[in-house]
Amino acid sequence: MSTQLLTDALSFDEHPLYERIISDILEQGYSICDSFFEEHVVGLLRDHIKTLYKHSELKKAGIGNKVNESVEKSIRGDYIQWIDELKANSVEKKFFEKINAFKNYLNKTCFMGLLHQEFHYAVYPKGSFYKKHIDTFQNDDRRKLSLVCYLNDHTWKTSNGGELVLYPEGLPEVIVHPLPGRVVIFESQRLEHEVKEVVNDKRLSITGWLKTM
Ligand code: OGA
Ligand code: MN
Repeated sequence: MSTQLLTDALSFDEHPLYERIISDILEQGYSICDSFFEEHVVGLLRDHIKTLYKHSELKKAGIGNKVNESVEKSIRGDYIQWIDELKANSVEKKFFEKINAFKNYLNKTCFMGLLHQEFHYAVYPKGSFYKKHIDTFQNDDRRKLSLVCYLNDHTWKTSNGGELVLYPEGLPEVIVHPLPGRVVIFESQRLEHEVKEVVNDKRLSITGWLKTM
């Protein structure tokens, strides 16, 4: 390899936020970040999920993956709509630009072999929850990292419930309030977690997975 090629292959701009997320995940299996997406992107995604919900475009979520799912309301009660990246609107394109940059960074620095992603909008109406689970299925272990971005606005109260509870192995449980723009990233195959009942208002998010082949 020529010296130039070698320098190109070895050099890249270190991204402090992504580095922090990576070390969090290596150390504790999850990372929480309040500045992953720009605020105006979160705002536009919020407008969009509200419109979808108003027009009843979200459907009762199932258990299992996209191809093999059954609706089981004693386990989860959210309403979802998958996002087709090929038909993404302008704000969804911005969302996926960030996701792709993060994914490429992980592949370059951690050799994770992430090839694609799947994301859906999710609304948890009052009274809904998602019981303790992990994010992989018997027939599909391609999900490596889960990423949730909360789309509630600044009027969201912690007393509304809908906390995400993480159960990292050998560590105390972690309670995450679904605050505006907050992003939680965790290992899909290892980290048990649940969504506590929403006792007031509607809990809004985008949830998805970075996947290998
Ligand atoms: C899920 C999930 C967590 C959250 O959709 O699998 O666990 O905080 N979501 O919405
Ligand atoms: Mn989950």
